[in-house]
Amino acid sequence: MTYQELNTPSYIVLEGKLRKNLEILSDVMKRSGAKILLAQKAFSMFRVYPLIGSYLSGTTSSGIYEARLASEEMPGRENHVFEPAYKDEEMEDICKICDHVYFNSLSQLEHHRKTWERSVSEGRVSIGLRVNPEFSTQEGHEIYDPCSPVSRLGIRLKDMPGELPEGVEGLHIHTLCEQGFEPLKETFEVFEKNFGKYFGALKWINLGGGHHITKEGYDREGLIGLIKYIRSAYNVEVYLEPGEAVALDAGLLISEVMDIVDTPDMPTLILDASAACHMPDVLEMPYTPPLLEACDNGVKVRLSSRTCLAGDTIGEYDLPKLPDIGDRLTFGDMAIYSMVKNNTFNGMPLPDIVLLKEDGEYALVKRFGYEDFKERLS
Ligand SMILES: Cc1ncc(COP(=O)(O)O)c(C=O)c1O
Repeated sequence: MTYQELNTPSYIVLEGKLRKNLEILSDVMKRSGAKILLAQKAFSMFRVYPLIGSYLSGTTSSGIYEARLASEEMPGRENHVFEPAYKDEEMEDICKICDHVYFNSLSQLEHHRKTWERSVSEGRVSIGLRVNPEFSTQEGHEIYDPCSPVSRLGIRLKDMPGELPEGVEGLHIHTLCEQGFEPLKETFEVFEKNFGKYFGALKWINLGGGHHITKEGYDREGLIGLIKYIRSAYNVEVYLEPGEAVALDAGLLISEVMDIVDTPDMPTLILDASAACHMPDVLEMPYTPPLLEACDNGVKVRLSSRTCLAGDTIGEYDLPKLPDIGDRLTFGDMAIYSMVKNNTFNGMPLPDIVLLKEDGEYALVKRFGYEDFKERLS
């Protein structure tokens, strides 16, 4: 398949860039002794799980479906799961397919004790607790801050028992979002000061996700030093579970200009891609995604979509010239938190999923149709 033959909209995942990210993460693993897991919530395109599994230690899941996906598509690698609450029937299955199960509260830990204790006694599962270090390092988007004052994520120090509950072997924190090493270092210092009394009884510590390890300028030497310190001071395995860093900048979303509406301040281009349906983080976070065709001081345009949502606007950009109807525009960094979050609001077609392989070939991984829309509604 050639680029011209691709449908729009299409997500194009870049195998070469994915491998570059994985090489960086693998180097961090080798030099620090940490284990790194793919957080599937960010990127679950399982066609590339064999590639990811050949570099990383495994995956972490947000619930039973992601855990099943990992067990089917990345067999033989570690399979961790954290969810704020599990249903009884899910816990049975989770204990069969996962090797590390994390609880968000003491009540969930005890509620499911009988089930997980059976798997622990067979040596198949290790149990962890998510704790909340109550140390916020982000400003501006509380929606992504698990340490916000009203957070429900992780047990606060005041709610922890004097000693770790029987059977618990690991502690988990996840507090960062698209951040460098400094906030992690500061967070770990607080975590160690307040929760360090439990560390001697642990087999592992998981430092969560949100580490922008594959971004240029990330202080990887600092990270490697911290991990080595934790491993030697407390004799524990250290896990990291990034999502973004695995597939950062490893995807595009191509779209086509369908119409140009003359709105008062600048022309608004109607695309066949939608923020609301195909890149929901643009509205949720909010942020303006990179556009490959954009330039400085060009023609100002607003990029929007063909849904009914008045605010379904992707952003305002400068382009070298006003595009023609039928021209293509390309959004960058569209592998992460895109496919996993898309939806068919307004009956909007889902983008094709395409893999740009390292040999330059475009491989169609999945094309969606009307049946995919209909099936979810009946
Ligand atoms: C518990 C947990 N782990 C890992 C991640 C992955 O974070 P990121 O994709 O920012 O690295 C998230 C993201 O929300 C998370 O909630």
